[in-house]
Amino acid sequence: MNGKVNRVVLIGTGAVGCSYAYSLINQGVTEELVLIDVNELRSEGEAMDLNHGLPFAPTAMKVWNGTYADCEQADLIVITAGLAQKPGETRLDLVAKNTKVFKQIVGNIMKSGFDGIFLVATNPVDLMTYVTWKESGLPKERVIGSGTTLDSARLRYMLGDYFEIDPRNIHAYIIGEHGDTELPVWSHATIGIDKLQTFIEKNKNYKTEALNEIFENVRDAAYHIIDRKGATYYGIGMSLVRITKAILQNENSILPISAYLNGEYGHSDIYIGVPALLIVMEYEAL
Ligand code: LAC
Repeated sequence: MNGKVNRVVLIGTGAVGCSYAYSLINQGVTEELVLIDVNELRSEGEAMDLNHGLPFAPTAMKVWNGTYADCEQADLIVITAGLAQKPGETRLDLVAKNTKVFKQIVGNIMKSGFDGIFLVATNPVDLMTYVTWKESGLPKERVIGSGTTLDSARLRYMLGDYFEIDPRNIHAYIIGEHGDTELPVWSHATIGIDKLQTFIEKNKNYKTEALNEIFENVRDAAYHIIDRKGATYYGIGMSLVRITKAILQNENSILPISAYLNGEYGHSDIYIGVPALLIVMEYEAL
């Protein structure tokens, strides 16, 4: 931002973090990527492996295994570190352990003098975004989470699959908790220029009842994937890159991130997944 070199710091080089890093590099979204992990040998190896692919990357960039001192100059810090759901666990089961981890991580980051934007992915993401905001002391607008960006992508994919339409031509949002209580905003879903209900009425092959099953598959997608491969990481990794791109390229995009509510939807003092306009206010320390 401000014409300077963009630096992203990634805290956590597990499966989600590395899926994010790999996707970020392949989409050429940043000029600098710093990897930090409690397992330094692991993050050093990930940096080496990613660097060896740079000759194929669309843009020039630097990737290195760093320390918390590298956070001072970061524009965006993405946190994926912490425990992930195991089969049979809900995201909320992780809150106590990950809160403990976050207090240490965010404390180390703020000691560096970091004054940029946080993007949190660790689950339960809405609560962990709140913890990050509280522990960092940064303005609430500069602490966001991945929210229901992945859930909304899953909904668009599954609607596209059912209606045989490119999911990029489907506008549909999941809002609320990134978790079991999330909800689809059917009333504001559109396919092309048609409201979803209109599109269904136009074609007798489609049934409104199918929407319930589609939503259940969206809401429970992580459980279905974890039961099969033990974890989820590609979808969330690419969702995090989408949000990163919107921030670093000042797109003025609307994405369903974990945003702080100050009375909106009748709620206050919580982070939750709602469509939010990402505007990066250019700022210079005075
Ligand atoms: C999922 C994880 C990121 O929904 O919560 O795949």
